[in-house]
Amino acid sequence: MQIAPIRARLRDGRHCVVRPFSEEDAAARLALERAIVRARHGVVKHEDELPADAGAYAERLERAGLTATDGSAMCLAAEMDGGRLVGEATLLRLQPRMLRHVGVVGLGVHPEAQGLGVGRALMGRLLEWARAHRDADGGRVLRVELQVRSDNARAIALYRSLGFVLEGTRRALVRRDDGVFVDDLVMGLLLEGAPAAPDPRAAP
Ligand SMILES: CC(C)(COP(=O)(O)OP(=O)(O)OC[C@H]1O[C@@H](n2cnc3c(N)ncnc32)[C@H](O)[C@@H]1OP(=O)(O)O)[C@@H](O)C(=O)NCCC(=O)NCCS
Repeated sequence: MQIAPIRARLRDGRHCVVRPFSEEDAAARLALERAIVRARHGVVKHEDELPADAGAYAERLERAGLTATDGSAMCLAAEMDGGRLVGEATLLRLQPRMLRHVGVVGLGVHPEAQGLGVGRALMGRLLEWARAHRDADGGRVLRVELQVRSDNARAIALYRSLGFVLEGTRRALVRRDDGVFVDDLVMGLLLEGAPAAPDPRAAP
């Protein structure tokens, strides 16, 4: 399913447009990711671990499966009036047929545009797509999951407000720049229509 651009009102009265990414966005995406990584909040990479240029970035997206147009991935951009890219949200479905209903989400907003509602607008639209999309054979996304650092209060609040629940903790996964280890949380959301899995702890 294709996704139409929408205009979302931000907390400061400005607007952003949420639309699918195109191939021409690679350089702007890399610049956005660089700015987010440089700000050091909520990230698990350093700047020198990012691709060196837009060409290498585009290749990495393709290798990861994020440029697919068959419904196995969806990448959304948020741009301010005037065209400045301020955020991105991605959903990548797992490939094995037994896991095709699982979408793994990533989200990032430019440090200068954080706290305005861009992240909420992106996630809202991405989940709308996940709920509406159907594969040619009727397959669909039923489970959305993500990983988030336990010291990322803003992201955790956003995900909880959208219905994500804590499913697990990967202890000491991230070593912060100051040497302190922090946990990483696994959060998941079952979409309408997902069968409830039996609780393995329940008595037979
Ligand atoms: C986390 C992030 C994606 C959120 O996007 P954002 O545009 O800044 O967030 P929003 O303005 O849409 O706010 C979303 C919610 O966060 C919560 N929130 C905002 N500021 C907060 C704060 N300082 N502490 C706790 N919660 C906060 C609010 O509940 C808000 O919900 P509301 O719309 O009901 O007010 C963005 O800040 C970011 O990219 N951070 C750096 C990279 C990162 O952490 N990525 C996510 C990795 S899992």
